[in-house]
Amino acid sequence: MLEGKLIVVTGAASGIGAATAALAQVQGADVIGVDIVAPASGGARRFIQADLGDAGSIASLAAQLPHGIDGLANIAGLPPTRPAAQVVKVNLIGLKTLTTMLVRKLADGASIVNLASLAGHGWAGSKESILASEALQLDDVEAFCRAYGIDGASSYFFAKEALIAWTLANRWTWRDRRIRMNAVSPGPVDTPILKDFLRTLGARAEEDMRTMDRPGTPADIAPVVCFLLSDGAAWIRGSNIPADGGMSSNLLMQAHGFQ
Ligand SMILES: NC(=O)c1ccc[n+]([C@@H]2O[C@H](COP(=O)([O-])OP(=O)(O)OC[C@H]3O[C@@H](n4cnc5c(N)ncnc54)[C@H](O)[C@@H]3O)[C@@H](O)[C@H]2O)c1
Repeated sequence: MLEGKLIVVTGAASGIGAATAALAQVQGADVIGVDIVAPASGGARRFIQADLGDAGSIASLAAQLPHGIDGLANIAGLPPTRPAAQVVKVNLIGLKTLTTMLVRKLADGASIVNLASLAGHGWAGSKESILASEALQLDDVEAFCRAYGIDGASSYFFAKEALIAWTLANRWTWRDRRIRMNAVSPGPVDTPILKDFLRTLGARAEEDMRTMDRPGTPADIAPVVCFLLSDGAAWIRGSNIPADGGMSSNLLMQAHGFQ
């Protein structure tokens, strides 16, 4: 499915990113993994260490990556237990900075996939802060978080909401080069950061766990990302695809007064 494609996967050292890098390789892709920590053996065959919350590190990464990239899977992310500004930097502004820098190195017809979350489901209700963050640079994130009262777990919700909005906003930005951008929004997935979600989100996360039959696994998410990276998804543009065991449908039906 990804035969002969050059795919960059961020967050490749763990969880969903590691599973995506491994599956893309099985499907025939040449994968370059990116992460702040080196992956254990058996990860992506090529690897570049980078801090996606740091402007200098992102610029150096973008310079090292080759031209002709067919797919960019933006999967690196921090949980809501980390300092709010750091979460917004890595999960949103660093991701946008890297992606924007890499567009000139993408092949025509390339696919960009952003790992969002069910936590971004309410994105349409955060219009003011999302629009205010549109041109935000990494150096200005602390001041932005103070100005918009983004602290604690709200940093994670805001970053994922703004990421979904950015994905939809860019449905046609590079249409002349057939470059498309989509998002995948998992519900709770059993990775090393699941415990951080349960700790930070408290009653809400416990309610989610009761509603769900089981948490997801990286193996539930990686095939969705790989499909979006493939040519079979060529006409899917600016979409946010839930992979959440039915959780977002459940929220929608409740919000609209259905069972
Ligand atoms: N696990 C869940 O329940 C869940 C649910 C929805 C969405 N997500 C999202 O999925 C993505 C992957 O998360 P995961 O669950 O696999 O967690 P994970 O902790 O297993 O993987 C995240 C990876 O990102 C890397 N990373 C963190 N900060 C970085 C930085 N500054 N620079 C470069 N790499 C960095 C980590 O080293 C790690 O390898 C994240 O964006 C997360 O928000 C996770």
